[in-house]
Amino acid sequence: MPSRSKVSLSRFLIEQQREHGHINADLRLLIEVVARACKRISIAVGKGALGGVLGSAGTENVQGETQKKLDVLSNEILLEANEWGGHLAALASEEMDDPHPIPNRYPKGEYLLVFDPLDGSSNIDVNISVGTIFSVLRCPEGVQDPAEAAFLQPGTQQVAAGYAVYGSSTVLVLTLGDGVHSFTLDREQGSFILTGSNLQIPADTSEFAINMSNLRHWEAPMKRYIEELLAGKTGPRGRDFNMRWVASMVADVHRILTRGGIFIYPRDLKDPSKPGKLRLMYEANPMAFIVEQAGGAATTGRERILALRPERLHQRVPVFLGSRHEVERVTAYHREADA
Ligand code: AHG
Ligand code: MN
Ligand code: MN
Repeated sequence: MPSRSKVSLSRFLIEQQREHGHINADLRLLIEVVARACKRISIAVGKGALGGVLGSAGTENVQGETQKKLDVLSNEILLEANEWGGHLAALASEEMDDPHPIPNRYPKGEYLLVFDPLDGSSNIDVNISVGTIFSVLRCPEGVQDPAEAAFLQPGTQQVAAGYAVYGSSTVLVLTLGDGVHSFTLDREQGSFILTGSNLQIPADTSEFAINMSNLRHWEAPMKRYIEELLAGKTGPRGRDFNMRWVASMVADVHRILTRGGIFIYPRDLKDPSKPGKLRLMYEANPMAFIVEQAGGAATTGRERILALRPERLHQRVPVFLGSRHEVERVTAYHREADA
């Protein structure tokens, strides 16, 4: 017998529309379609070697990264799911050089969708959590055929953002600008069920997530911050810190949303042409929106991520996000060093 207390994603969205007027029918459809696509990706990820989806696709994306079969498949699943519903004006993704127009045979809507179809590609073949990240913007008024410029809006303009993490369970995390909510995929029923409302990231933490192998390439304030954490009880921070690094941003952010922490992918001096590794439009912005909505903070080490004016669809930025007091501290170290 279905439990009356279970709230599905569909019911949650309808109630948001009805009671709070946060969303309209098109935005609701958009979120439902993205969630359905994530369900399909979750199934493909779960099949692993049995589905023939592991390994490289033998192609490169616009950023010169080798695409995995699942990167390409996930991108296709999201495209196919979102093209025909009439809710979008265009889509853009990590795996496509340019924005993807809505084919002429379908009606166009008022939203733009930008996504990282499969985040954590290096973890696909080793059975470690990966995910999907998405951000929803409004198509600027009067724009008929949105190209790159239409997408270049600051993160503060996002109307929704979310991610799905394909871990030991599949969880969809969503913000519509009014708190952060999580939904666990009920694999028997095939629906996402609300399992967390108004998630909050504790302001303090003793856990950090960073790829330490890049330490020698970091800027001075970044080295200072980490050295202080590593010094533990006898150092200036007076307590021990623990480290976790999954190397799938979705999984690291999900842990931080669950129990706090700070996630950092800083600028490094290894390749000065790249100001960080993560991409602003489909990694940093949606995650920053979620983290701020959960009471955390998100900066580039210097500025608030959501206030940045994007210059390119695939632009990279340094990312510092999570528990507010730690993000504020390391950001202050950078500002002090600059002053
Ligand atoms: P993607 O698989 O979408 O290209 O993103 C991978 C990102 C991110 O998920 C993760 O935090 C980071 O790359 C891992 O970087 P390292 O390999 O340097 O640890
Ligand atoms: Mn990614
Ligand atoms: Mn990706």
